[in-house]
Amino acid sequence: MIGFFNSLWGLFSIDMGIDLGTCNTLVCVQGEGVVLNEPSVVAVRRGTNQVLMNGNAVGHSAKVMLGKTPAAIEAIRPLKDGVIADFEITEAMLSYFIRKVHNNRRRLVRPRVVIATPSGITQVEKRAVINSAERAGAREVFLIEEPMAAGIGVGLPVDQPQASLIVDIGGGTTEVAVLALAGIVESQSIRIAGDEFDDAIRAHIKEAYNLMVGPQTAEEIKLRIGSVAPLKEEMSMEVKGRDAVSGMPRRIVVNSVEIREAMLGPLDHITKAVRQVLERTPPELAADLVHQGLTMCGGGSLIRGIDQVLSESVGLPVRIAEDPMTAVARGTGRVLEKLDLLAQILENGDE
Ligand SMILES: Nc1ncnc2c1ncn2[C@@H]1O[C@H](COP(=O)(O)OP(=O)(O)OP(=O)(O)O)[C@@H](O)[C@H]1O
Ligand SMILES: [Mg+2]
Repeated sequence: MIGFFNSLWGLFSIDMGIDLGTCNTLVCVQGEGVVLNEPSVVAVRRGTNQVLMNGNAVGHSAKVMLGKTPAAIEAIRPLKDGVIADFEITEAMLSYFIRKVHNNRRRLVRPRVVIATPSGITQVEKRAVINSAERAGAREVFLIEEPMAAGIGVGLPVDQPQASLIVDIGGGTTEVAVLALAGIVESQSIRIAGDEFDDAIRAHIKEAYNLMVGPQTAEEIKLRIGSVAPLKEEMSMEVKGRDAVSGMPRRIVVNSVEIREAMLGPLDHITKAVRQVLERTPPELAADLVHQGLTMCGGGSLIRGIDQVLSESVGLPVRIAEDPMTAVARGTGRVLEKLDLLAQILENGDE
C-alpha cells in the first residue's frame, strides 16, 4: 500500500539531490541520475548583485565569460573555498538550477531537496542554503555533509560498523573523513584544493617568466600537463599571457617537470590533512582501514599520480572512485531513495 502511494506521489513530485560545489553544481533526480552538471558561475551587472536577465546568466554560458566580460558585466563564482562568499548570488544560482530541473519535468508538487554542503560551513550559512532552496520552491530541505554524500555516492558501507576513509578534493575544499555507522567519526576540511593548484601554477609562471596568466589558463595547464608524480613521458605546452613589465601579450613554452614542482606545495597540505585525520582515528577503526584503504573523489583526484603519492605518504591502498566528479551528487540522490539512512545521518549530524 505504501509502495502504491509512493509511486503515485512520484508522479507529482520529483525529489532532487544537489551538490552545491565551489566549481560545479550537480543535480540528481530520483530514478534519472545526474540531470544537471554546470559550473557554479553567475553573470551579474558589475558592482551589483543583479543577475543578468537574459538566458545565459548562470552555469555553462556564464563560465565562458569568466575573465573576459565587457565593462558592464562581471562573471563571478559565488562560492569560494567551499563556503558561500555571496549569499544573494548563491541563492539566485540555486534557485535557477532547481527551477530548471523542476520546470523541465512539469510536476505539480514541490520537490523535496537534499543538499550536500562542505563540512566546515557555519549555522548561518546552513540556514541561508535552506532558505534559498525553500524560496526556489522546495517543499522540504535536508542538508548532509559532503564527505558523507561522497561516501554513499561511491558505494562505501557508511552505515556499517567498519570504517571507510574518503578524500574528496574539489575546487575549493579538500574534505577528509572517516565514516562509520552513518556518522562522521573524524574529519578535516581544508581550504586547499583544485583552485590552489591553479594559483601555484600562475605564481610559478609569473616568477619564472614574468608572465601573467589568467585562472582559466592556469587550470588548462593543470589539466593538460599537470602531475604530482613523474610521467612516463614528460610533456610541454605553449602558454599565452601578458608580460608583467611591458604589459604586452607574449607566449612561452612550459613543461610538465616545472609545473609538477609548482604543484607540490598544495599537495603537501593535502597529504598532511590525510595523515592528521588518520592520527586521530581510534585504533579499532584505523585497523579496518589497513585493508579497506582510502577512496578518492572530486575533480582533484584526477590529477596525474595523486593516488600513488597519497598511497606512499600514508601507507594505505588508494582507489579513485569511478566517475569521481559526480560522487557527491549521486550520494545525495541515493539518500532520497533510502530515507531510513537519511534519518540516521541527520540524527548523527546533530551536535
Ligand atoms: N582531469 C583533471 N585533472 C586535474 N584536475 C581536474 C581534472 N578535472 C577537474 N579537475 C579540477 O577539479 C576541480 C573541480 O572539482 P569538483 O567539481 O569536484 O569541485 P567542486 O565540488 O565544485 O568543489 P568543492 O567540493 O570544493 O566545493 C577544479 O579545480 C578542476 O580544475
Ligand atoms: Mg565537491
